[in-house]
Amino acid sequence: MTTQRTQVAIIGAGPSGLLLGQLLHKAGIDNIVLERQTGAYVLGRIRAGVLEQTTCALLDEAGVGERMHAEGLVHGGYELCFGGARHRIDLHGLTGGKRVTVYGQTEVTRDLMAARASAGLTTVYGAKDVALHDFDGAAPSVTYTLNGEPHSVVCDFIAGCDGYHGVSRASVPPKALSIYEKVYQFGWLGVLADTPPVSHELIYSNHERGFALCSMRSATRTRYYVQCPLHDKVEQWSDAAFWDELRRRLDPQAAESLVTGPSIEKSIAPLRSFVAEPMRFGSLFLAGDAAHIVPPTGAKGLNLAAADVRFLSRALIEYYGERSRAGIDHYSEKCLRRIWKAERFSWWFTGLTHKFPETGAIGQKLQRAELDYLVSSRAASTAMAENYVGLPFEA
Ligand code: APR
Ligand code: PHB
Repeated sequence: MTTQRTQVAIIGAGPSGLLLGQLLHKAGIDNIVLERQTGAYVLGRIRAGVLEQTTCALLDEAGVGERMHAEGLVHGGYELCFGGARHRIDLHGLTGGKRVTVYGQTEVTRDLMAARASAGLTTVYGAKDVALHDFDGAAPSVTYTLNGEPHSVVCDFIAGCDGYHGVSRASVPPKALSIYEKVYQFGWLGVLADTPPVSHELIYSNHERGFALCSMRSATRTRYYVQCPLHDKVEQWSDAAFWDELRRRLDPQAAESLVTGPSIEKSIAPLRSFVAEPMRFGSLFLAGDAAHIVPPTGAKGLNLAAADVRFLSRALIEYYGERSRAGIDHYSEKCLRRIWKAERFSWWFTGLTHKFPETGAIGQKLQRAELDYLVSSRAASTAMAENYVGLPFEA
């Protein structure tokens, strides 16, 4: 068994783990990242792509914002489509000047990986059998195997950034966790294509056939979604069937101008609301998808992960700099207060825009009334806009 020593052992090289590693490194705090998959596998996952301003600021702080500023698309609004027409939500005007940046999570991950590699920091890809030890005691450590060889990392803290299916949350005794969960009865079928976006802003569409979303990655690459039955298989959906379904769920003008092309990625994702409380157990912190999941309507997942990492990096920097445990002790509570607001928003936005057969005709009428109210009331639009651009961090 080879033994390494580090200050913070980070499990998972998704955006949470990599961003935490970079911020800690900038502050002179030593860390090792252990990732089960290969780097190529991690980069193959297509996820959402709307960054709140505070997420962009954190990427800047980590020194990885350059390409995001150069290539990201800054959006000051988006459109809600229902009843055959589109209605703009003026994010910029309603929030006192805030905007969002459309830049794929895959690209954020790529930039973080490149920064980590150029700083010469250790990322162990292909780390199997990761196990957490003694995070409730005085000598936390993480063991893993690499190419069949056992390894151990002795550390001060463990950051569980290993996503919903990771080992970190699973290592906590079940009685120490409170789990809150809602699983939706439908999925999102997503397609990535090298076609020009149907509109220069995102379109969230509520249609009687189901929800649709028109998003993008650049001026020449689109990311589109349609609500689909949960148990559909990607193979059942030809490109032609996808484009037909998307077109049907848009207003006539968008349907007319939709440019189609071969898909370069197609996948079905389930929708879930999930929170595990608390987010700290002794020297173990959970961050990102390891602690919470939102349905993707509103693209809060990556932004919430970044917010956790912001609190966690500050807490650890304060600990090593001033030997103060205040940030550590308040980490869970500070994160959760804002997480629940984003959980509420994502749940609400999903409920507003998707088809729920179980609510029947009255459900549809109520949804329509709420959409009408939303686009005709400045107060209601403002409430939506301020959640969409990202709620402030409390002091
Ligand atoms: N050992 C090591 N690594 C693991 C293990 C394990 N047992 N289990 C999971 N991992 C790795 C996964 O392979 C993955 O690369 O942890 C990483 C977790 O990354 P993400 O799932 O991307 O989670 P996170 O970094 O918190 O990012 C949150 O991703 O899922 C989206 O909507 C979400 O945008 C949000 C963002
Ligand atoms: C995306 O571009 O993938 C995307 C955008 C907005 C969302 C969800 C996903 O609300």
